[in-house]
Amino acid sequence: AKKVLSGIQPSGSLTLGNYIGAIKNFVKLQEEHECYFMVVDLHAITVSQDPAALRENSESVAALYLAAGINPQISNVYMQSHVQQHAELGWIMTTLTAMGELERMTQFKDKSSGKDSVGAGLFVYPSLMAADILIYNADLVPVGEDQKQHLELTRDLAGRFNHRFGEFFTVPEPYIPEVGARIMSLDDGTKKMSKSNPNPGSYIALLDPPDVIRKKIARATTDSGREVIFDPANKPEISNLMSIYAECSGMTLQQIADRYEGQMYGGFKKDLGEVLVATLEPLQQKYREIRSSGALSDILAEGAERARGVAAKTLAGVKEKMGFLPLR
Ligand code: AMP
Ligand code: TRP
Repeated sequence: AKKVLSGIQPSGSLTLGNYIGAIKNFVKLQEEHECYFMVVDLHAITVSQDPAALRENSESVAALYLAAGINPQISNVYMQSHVQQHAELGWIMTTLTAMGELERMTQFKDKSSGKDSVGAGLFVYPSLMAADILIYNADLVPVGEDQKQHLELTRDLAGRFNHRFGEFFTVPEPYIPEVGARIMSLDDGTKKMSKSNPNPGSYIALLDPPDVIRKKIARATTDSGREVIFDPANKPEISNLMSIYAECSGMTLQQIADRYEGQMYGGFKKDLGEVLVATLEPLQQKYREIRSSGALSDILAEGAERARGVAAKTLAGVKEKMGFLPLR
């Protein structure tokens, strides 16, 4: 078995992009591997967060993990801030990272462009993400396409540490799905679906009520033309809806194209709305059960406890290798 680690920020309501690009794969990977799935609250505060909203979103993301099928008996589910070692190794990784490497990060460029004040945490965020991964010596990191560049930096930092201080860290591999690694916005097939988009019609939130889901799909922008065929370069919007359909129904893109051959967009979109409702309604039901059961805090405490054991050992090794004076 390999070690698998990933995390999602509690910075708003999770979308179908998070589900298809990330969480669905978490659920799949847990069957065979040792898994660590965090809610990365320390990452969320790199942009200003209202305390009450941070608390609510943190519980919500943790509950969505479980509602989507992550089993806390076999996977470790916890809050990043409950394992203090992340912050400490994060600092150490920051000292191994070059400014130029951080300046090249496209997520930083996107999130900072046009702002007159940008927090330093947003800049060093990729070094903390590297620490998250390396502290468990994770082999595999399931993420969407947008995290690929951060993973590359993590690999470089692992190699740099090993080169300077002696073989120590596992160099992790990204696990990026072939279909669904980049679910696009419903109002613009060239932009990724994002929970921070001010237009809620641009995304499906995992907790959107069924009627809202149906309406959003019905209103989703579609390319001119009328054929349901997968052609991302020329038909980005219909191709995106087909990817969503495939990921949520288990059908292949070809099967979907065959099924809607000779039909127009209307019937396809109507069915897609139903496919999504059938996928998300049971998840929402479980979500409500988990939130009202009161079981979450114990699950998070147990996950953090196990994670802390592994993280503390790695951090001690790092400090020894680097020449920190041991306590006594
Ligand atoms: P974030 O919401 O930025 O914390 O992202 C959490 C995870 O969801 C990361 O692995 C992202 O790569 C993935 N993700 C976010 N948005 C999308 C999207 N539109 N399509 C596919 N994956 C996504
Ligand atoms: N940077 C990731 C995102 O924005 C979240 C994240 C933080 C993460 N630490 C991680 C993802 C470690 C995978 C592994 O989506």
